[in-house]
Amino acid sequence: AAVGKGNYRHFMEKELHEHPIVLGDTLRQHIDPASRAVALPPLPFDPAVVPKITLSACGSAFLAAQVGRYWMEQVARIPVDSDVASELRYRDPPLPEGGAALLVSQSGETADTLAVLRLLKQRRQHVLSVVNVAESTMDRESHGTLLTIAGPEIGVASTKAFTAQLAVLATMALGFGRSRGVLSVQEEARLTAALLEVPAHAATLLEHTEEVQALARQVAMAKDVLFLGRGSLYPIALEGALKLKELSYIHAEGYAAGEMKHGPIALIDQDVPVIALCPSGPLFEKTASNLQEAAARGGRVMAFTDQEGASSLRRFAEAVVVLPTVDPFVAPILHAIPVQMLAYHVAVLKGTDVDQPRNLAKAVTVE
Ligand code: G6P
Repeated sequence: AAVGKGNYRHFMEKELHEHPIVLGDTLRQHIDPASRAVALPPLPFDPAVVPKITLSACGSAFLAAQVGRYWMEQVARIPVDSDVASELRYRDPPLPEGGAALLVSQSGETADTLAVLRLLKQRRQHVLSVVNVAESTMDRESHGTLLTIAGPEIGVASTKAFTAQLAVLATMALGFGRSRGVLSVQEEARLTAALLEVPAHAATLLEHTEEVQALARQVAMAKDVLFLGRGSLYPIALEGALKLKELSYIHAEGYAAGEMKHGPIALIDQDVPVIALCPSGPLFEKTASNLQEAAARGGRVMAFTDQEGASSLRRFAEAVVVLPTVDPFVAPILHAIPVQMLAYHVAVLKGTDVDQPRNLAKAVTVE
């Protein structure tokens, strides 16, 4: 059946509002709410002994995979290599016997990702895919598939499929951590509980759009925008920049907060908004001090943080958007939503084609 926009102005707006339900459905698929234990279906490899995981994807799916990399290294202690599929397919990296490949794709049809899938199968890796479309080519050709339950996504810029990918990758990392004996039952329960709260937090974010809209009015006037994040928020900074470019045609760059001083700081002046993803947690002070350096050079810092981080950022930031307080483990999922909303509102202000940006395709099925 054809999917309609309902009462929404754009598919993207509708799909943004589907975050809570999609995240809930996707998380509940792999978390037992009673025991708060992760229950993954049978996988094509044993995470307890897998020597290495090679992660690959394109576009936003690659950025979700990058967050997955941080999670798998952190809570499962698995060596992970990751690269965009268009690079990985020609890199020919050394791959260990019994290694695993993990591919992420909304459509399951992206040409470069599919090429990596076939190549890594040939190289005798156990291929697991995270896809949104059942019976897609990647679903059919992988040794195993975990489905995101995002439903059809029509807007070219990924929204709910992206956060659903994050939800699957997060539960996967926790499940892997348990099977490797590096994550305790208590830690697992604490982190799955934090994940299960995300859908409700997402709903709260979607109800309070005024601050993001105010930010969008500032960003819409800019020619260049810098997004900064550290740790698992770094890929979300990249995603913020990618979304803004795609939807509003404003030049944006995502940067690891600590790398700013190695280049982008030269660009900073009154005309370049610096959008920071800076939740409280072990890396907060580090990122905050990078932002302070930007402010000291006349940069207009606009930060997404939580209650705990807000007061210290307000000392120098032009705008601070306070998100619900969550465990740092789930912060990238929550921060992804306002970053998508920001790009959406800027595009609406600029009058660009939100659902079908120029030159872009929903699925790129040619190399
Ligand atoms: C295109 C889309 C992006 C998407 C990427 C990967 O570039 O415009 O939104 O992230 O392809 O697509 P996939 O279907 O593999 O996730």
